[in-house]
Amino acid sequence: MTGEAPVKSILELSAFDPVAKADPHARLKPLREDCPVWRDESTKSWFISRYADVRGVVNDRTMWRSGERAEQGSFSRFLLDESRLHEPPGERQSILTMDEPDHSRIRTPLSKAFYARVAKSRPKIDAIVSDVLDSVADRKAFDLIGDVAIPIPIITIARILGVDDQRLSEFRDWSEGVILGLNPVRTPDETAHMERSQAAMTDYFTELMTARRVKAEDDLVSDMVQLQAEGAPLSDTEVRTNLLALLVGGNLTTTDLIGNGVRLFLLHPEQKAKLVADPTLVPQAVEEILRFEGPVDITGRVMPEDRTVGGCPMKQTHSVVLGLRAANRDPAAFERPDEFDISRKGTPHVSFGGGSHICIGAPLARMEAASFFSTFFQRFPTLHIAETGEPQWRALPFFRGMERFVVAV
Ligand code: HEM
Repeated sequence: MTGEAPVKSILELSAFDPVAKADPHARLKPLREDCPVWRDESTKSWFISRYADVRGVVNDRTMWRSGERAEQGSFSRFLLDESRLHEPPGERQSILTMDEPDHSRIRTPLSKAFYARVAKSRPKIDAIVSDVLDSVADRKAFDLIGDVAIPIPIITIARILGVDDQRLSEFRDWSEGVILGLNPVRTPDETAHMERSQAAMTDYFTELMTARRVKAEDDLVSDMVQLQAEGAPLSDTEVRTNLLALLVGGNLTTTDLIGNGVRLFLLHPEQKAKLVADPTLVPQAVEEILRFEGPVDITGRVMPEDRTVGGCPMKQTHSVVLGLRAANRDPAAFERPDEFDISRKGTPHVSFGGGSHICIGAPLARMEAASFFSTFFQRFPTLHIAETGEPQWRALPFFRGMERFVVAV
């Protein structure tokens, strides 16, 4: 099953590599065809790129997630802070990298409270989208990323959490700083911004939790301290860390869902015309953006025992990297996979992962994107791309989104 791989390292499949940065499928397609289950010795990991294999592994709740269970030196350990392994799991990491029983202990109450908040957020999100679009409405040109797609998710999560209005601009600055934690190639100034922001955000969440214990408000921080008071086994650090995970996990990704989507519609005017003519297509248009050019390249798991995947024998503790972007273009799962077509129905994409770790923010991301694409092209019917040539793709490995995207009316 593992033939000669057309790349030497998983990093060549990320935005670190100039070819993959310009077009990830230039790398992913030959790999999926020639070597769909590939052992990359340089990062001690398996890279899986066929839809059926990715779907099978990502949905399998017996797989491990935590890097500390993975082979020494493997890809799954890259994000691990080895110096803190003696601390309890909940004190040093979010649910993103946690295994059972801690993962469910924290995710179950968090998701219950969060989903109840998301379910009633649509009117608020519509108002946020409308205000942000008002702020660029009289401009001849604007940066869709910086002026529109970055503020929408930050203001949305701030409102859900319960950030005070007077602190919103500080919160925006900290959010942009905290998100820099995803970037392994930061400048010293960016690292300083990140560290300052993480400390400020931690202090702010501590302050908010204390305030909400004294007087509850209609927000997620109040819900979480209320759950603690009712006996939910969650420490303050666990609540803070996972509220921060909602912020970090949701901002850049939703920004890129909006940014990538607008670019796709401007490149495919016939799809834009279809969307504008029939607003009931919005939900499936959002799914097609996620499939065709989703914000996240990969997710990961760790083998819990010796097993075979796609005919290849894997060992317990082996690191498994799931090629979500590659799977979403597999011709065995999708007809005309390289065509952007918002009338597409059928096989669901894997852009939010699956199983017990499936993206907790998926309903919110979908709601923000649905709100945005319900009105955007109606409000800016003559919008077009202002700069010629390839957009400036961000150099952030394993994410796909633009640094900036100037559009003109
Ligand atoms: C288009 C937008 C988004 C995409 C493409 C995306 C993608 C993903 C992916 C691929 C995973 C890993 C799933 C797995 O391993 O099976 C994940 C997990 C996660 N995401 Fe998202 N995400 C998005 C939006 C959000 C939002 C809006 C939030 C929060 C408000 C969020 C918070 C999280 C968290 C906390 C996890 C960890 C869940 C767990 O391990 O239990 N994400 N996301």
